[in-house]
Amino acid sequence: METEPLPSILAPHQKARWKTNQDGIWTLDGSRVDEVPARSILTTLWDQPRWLEAYHLYDQRGSDLFEQICQLAEYYLTRTENSILEAQAAAIIAAAPVECIVELGAGYSKKTIHLLTEQLRQRDKGIFAPIDVSESGLLASREAVARDFPRLEFHGLHARYEDGFTSIEQAVPTLFVFLGSTVGNFNHSDFPRFFRALSEAMGPKDYLLLGADRIKDTTLLEQAYNDSQGLTAQFILNVFCHINNLLGSNFDLAKMRYHARFNSEWQQIEMYAIAEQRHRVSFPTVETSFEWQKDEKILVEISRKFDPQRLQEQLRFFDLLPIEHFTDANQWFSVLLFRKQG
Ligand code: AVI
Repeated sequence: METEPLPSILAPHQKARWKTNQDGIWTLDGSRVDEVPARSILTTLWDQPRWLEAYHLYDQRGSDLFEQICQLAEYYLTRTENSILEAQAAAIIAAAPVECIVELGAGYSKKTIHLLTEQLRQRDKGIFAPIDVSESGLLASREAVARDFPRLEFHGLHARYEDGFTSIEQAVPTLFVFLGSTVGNFNHSDFPRFFRALSEAMGPKDYLLLGADRIKDTTLLEQAYNDSQGLTAQFILNVFCHINNLLGSNFDLAKMRYHARFNSEWQQIEMYAIAEQRHRVSFPTVETSFEWQKDEKILVEISRKFDPQRLQEQLRFFDLLPIEHFTDANQWFSVLLFRKQG
């Protein structure tokens, strides 16, 4: 029985699509956030060259490993972005007069706390709505917000980013927050599709805060993805355990190795699994298989690096106007604030 009132941040014509069975957590009625992975995995593995969509990396173990990567000395991204947000949260919130903060990703990291603290300090009220496919991440955010920010209204949207942000009411002034340089994991077709959809979903009083890792010295970049503890290798190769669990396939980690390098022409780190020997990989549930040739690479993830001025110019074509650029002393990472062109 549904007793909780539908949140005001959902657009009226979208409200009927959302249901709740946990206080403060909303799910699209009848949708399954996991309905497409098998099709995605099989189609991209049969592509030439073979590749995978990055979101498959985040099963429970993958998410745990990523949390550990964020603590590594070599992985400068998280702490650098956090230092920018800690120093600039007051300026960001002052420049974006909003009622609601929608975070793409489960939220409630150290970084988000800076923004929520400032929202309450400057406006004394606010709504926090993280969107994520991980229900456990949303539940953890809900508990933490209730404990640390009891005056904030919380609505967790259990959905893919696009399903979530297209449901947000355009009349509620909103800051969309997309941190961690997750934008770097988008390929060249994901990128325009994402920004077109986000910009169309945004109302005239909305803002976007985007965290983007910058082009820099190749050694520094490659060290961040070839860490001395081998956590990144475990994170990338774990995707094959996840696929085995999902599809009953027989990927064997002993027959592959991890390799990451910076492609300077495409300005991106490329993370591969490479077969150490020729072997057959079978998918019994769909009665198919392929021969993975010795030294053949599967591109598991890309992590694009950006020139912030060029990124600002590019997002103008999606009606997102650059209004502030925050960076760190080394200029390793950028946090960019955009306003939707009305
Ligand atoms: C989530 N994303 C921004 C990370 C990155 O740096 O591209 C994922 C990652 N892959 C390996 N290490 C970290």
